[in-house]
Amino acid sequence: MSTSDAGQLPTPVLEIQDLHYGFPTRSLFEGLCLSVDPGESVAITGPSGSGKSTLLSLVLRLIKPSAGRIRVAGTDVTELRRAQVARIRSESIGTVFQFGELIPELSPRDNVALAALLSRSDRRDSFQRAQRLLDELGVPEAATTQELSGGEHQRTAVARALINSPALLLADEPTGALDPDTAERTAELLFSLPRRNKCGLLLVTHDSRIAARADRILRVESRALVPAGERETVA
Ligand SMILES: Nc1ncnc2c1ncn2[C@@H]1O[C@H](COP(=O)(O)OP(=O)(O)OP(=O)(O)O)[C@@H](O)[C@H]1O
Ligand SMILES: [Mg+2]
Repeated sequence: MSTSDAGQLPTPVLEIQDLHYGFPTRSLFEGLCLSVDPGESVAITGPSGSGKSTLLSLVLRLIKPSAGRIRVAGTDVTELRRAQVARIRSESIGTVFQFGELIPELSPRDNVALAALLSRSDRRDSFQRAQRLLDELGVPEAATTQELSGGEHQRTAVARALINSPALLLADEPTGALDPDTAERTAELLFSLPRRNKCGLLLVTHDSRIAARADRILRVESRALVPAGERETVA
């Protein structure tokens, strides 16, 4: 595990400092801070429209903050060029979204291997690792991902997120499209990953039972993150 200059504390897999972001008509974040350690899971909750998905887009550097710093596995992504951002995204971040966002015409194995091939892994090795991950996660062989159940589909998305051994996993409503039982099992899998793989997990959810599995629960409130359960303080 990498360490900070002090040589004691692990380098956070995600560090957000004094983040500001907004639109001409509305400010979304003003001074938002967050740190996620290796092996730690953090759930983000908050009302619809409060900016949860936007926060993940900022971490992925799909959009650029107006001020503040975002470090992923120790690298400041705020000022990186496009090619460097693409590399960090592919090597250090795994994503699982609400509908899995798989390529429907491809098999589960091709979907997962593709993520490794895009980060320039060896072809044979990519397919072998993809198959091993899918076997571990209990995804059956299929000609296309359209043949999979909802849970198998999301487990394929988890395999794809894991294939490059990312330091950080981002999940946006990963169980939102699943029935309650499948949602629970998918959540169990996701929350087992930080300890198993020493990665950090930042998971957005509206479901309080899913959030309760996280090491910490934070809520977007007053354009920042506050520990869930604490009431907004009126200035
Ligand atoms: N270009 C834009 N101009 C103005 N407002 C925008 C623009 N793009 C997004 N927004 C607003 O930003 C807010 C945050 O959106 P975001 O998708 O991050 O919310 P969310 O917390 O993920 O909501 P949900 O729980 O419904 O997924 C929303 O109110 C959205 O309408
Ligand atoms: Mg959202």
